[in-house]
Amino acid sequence: MRAVTVAGKDMLPVLENKDLPVAGLDEVVLQLYASAMNHRDVWITKGLYPGIRYGCTMGSDGCGTYLGQEYIINPGLGWGDSEQAQSSSFRVLGVPDEGTFADNIAIDRKYLHPKPDHLSVHQAAALPLAGVTAYRALLSRARATAGEKVLITGIGGGVALMAMQFALAQGCAVFVTSSDPDKIHKAKSMGASEGYNYKDPDWPKKLAADAGGVDVVIDGACGAGFSSLVKVCNPGGRIAFYGATAGPVDSLNPQAVFWKQLSILGSTMGSESDFALMVDFVAKHRVTPVIDEVIPLDNFESGFRRMAAGSQFGKIVFSH
Ligand SMILES: NC(=O)c1ccc[n+]([C@@H]2O[C@H](COP(=O)([O-])OP(=O)(O)OC[C@H]3O[C@@H](n4cnc5c(N)ncnc54)[C@H](OP(=O)(O)O)[C@@H]3O)[C@@H](O)[C@H]2O)c1
Repeated sequence: MRAVTVAGKDMLPVLENKDLPVAGLDEVVLQLYASAMNHRDVWITKGLYPGIRYGCTMGSDGCGTYLGQEYIINPGLGWGDSEQAQSSSFRVLGVPDEGTFADNIAIDRKYLHPKPDHLSVHQAAALPLAGVTAYRALLSRARATAGEKVLITGIGGGVALMAMQFALAQGCAVFVTSSDPDKIHKAKSMGASEGYNYKDPDWPKKLAADAGGVDVVIDGACGAGFSSLVKVCNPGGRIAFYGATAGPVDSLNPQAVFWKQLSILGSTMGSESDFALMVDFVAKHRVTPVIDEVIPLDNFESGFRRMAAGSQFGKIVFSH
């Protein structure tokens, strides 16, 4: 079977021919129709991820078939029993475990969930990792409720876009940031109230003038811009962050955090319960993941280049 595997540090992955996987105890072999990229795939090719194994099949997201039923895969393996945090054996599917950028995968059947009926196999493949990360950050951690104002940073990101769709479905008013006016325009056409360029130093003032502040922030960037997120929060606000694309937070005004009674919440992926709740939420609200591009698996290199350049709006999907 075809498999896209890790080649080395600062190298694009390679397409290999591997033996069909054999199902272990409690596992089934799923034939994959589609898979989708996440930023971690790019971090892995740069050597910037723990547990990298050369020759390992990449990919965390997938949709496929087993005995005539279509499934998506929960890529959060070994979460454990606590809803508070994952266990020490937690890992994300696709390096070091064999991933979804292949024609087949052997996977424990407990990680399979029936594909929501309203989604195509490509849309369904785009859902799992970004969906569970956005769901936990927005709904399990920040507990956004209907009527609240939610700011989502870097709306071009896969998780960010999913968080926006979930926040709108929850009945929140959504504000976004992006480096790209075209992405802001697209977000507004999907229901965002307003958008701001995070490279404009005056964006927090503009948001304050438009919205008067926000109740929830969902951030995947951190970096120097994090202090602005504290500034735009209303008293009692919650900032949930799941990534640090822009690097460490170098300054934070502690007085603003304690005086406004803010909660700063780290969030990673989600529990098995978060995943099941996310799939139910998507089915109930008929949320459809935004696809930037569907690329044949054989042309995977163009997907890696596009994500590294950050030009995508929505998920990059591989069709198998
Ligand atoms: N903890 C977890 O469970 C988890 C799960 C998924 C992802 N992550 C991490 O979260 C981050 C995003 O992942 P993804 O897969 O959604 O990535 P992605 O689709 O590649 O999105 C990256 C986006 O980040 C935005 N960005 C870059 N610099 C920014 C800045 N200074 N301020 C605000 N936004 C900025 C850009 O948005 P614009 O194009 O709009 O400017 C870009 O499109 C990555 O670091 C990833 O490793 C963590």
